[in-house]
Amino acid sequence: MSTVPFAFTPENEAKAKAYLARYPEGRQASAILPLMTLAQDQHGGWLPKEALDYLAEYLATPRIRVYEVASFYDMFNTKPTGRIQIRVCRTTPCWLCGSDEVLKVCEETLGIKVGQSTEDGRFYLREFECLGACANAPILWVDDEYYEDLDGPKTRAIIEALQRGERPKAGSQTGRQASMPAGGKTTLLELPPYDQPPPAAARKSGSGDAPQDGGQPKSGA
Ligand code: FES
Repeated sequence: MSTVPFAFTPENEAKAKAYLARYPEGRQASAILPLMTLAQDQHGGWLPKEALDYLAEYLATPRIRVYEVASFYDMFNTKPTGRIQIRVCRTTPCWLCGSDEVLKVCEETLGIKVGQSTEDGRFYLREFECLGACANAPILWVDDEYYEDLDGPKTRAIIEALQRGERPKAGSQTGRQASMPAGGKTTLLELPPYDQPPPAAARKSGSGDAPQDGGQPKSGA
């Protein structure tokens, strides 16, 4: 018997329908991952059995199929947790780049250990295996965002901002673009052909448009 009734909010119902529409007729059960993510977010970071049963009914699939997915994928929680999910990558590249310090600062600042939630139910701290962003190690994964290129003080600043109810800017915390070298570009220094200024003759005849930036690399290139 259901003790925690669950149903999508109207807003999530609309999102769920949009996800379902992406799948061919008869294959709607394949939308289980995005729908399970919606359900977990709606329920404060974890999935009670009632939510899993609701999803099974919603997708017209056997309950066991839904239970299998929820218990297989590490990003789904089937026990109560804090709402904000903080995951520290501990695999070798992150470990070599200082994940011990990142984890220590998380534990100190939140006052909990790995696998625990804060008493106010706001934060849940976990260790994770490789998050696929090793070039920007060490990595902290908070809900839907990656925080990269961390050290102890940067990690503390992020956690304290979250505690104040803020959402600090995600991505590299050293300001580098994506996973480019920390000291700037070392390859592909020349403009690609499609960004080269046109030949002088073409400029004279007006058949080419001279770049407005004098041929300098575009920002972010
Ligand atoms: S080892 Fe941490 S992202 Fe790959």
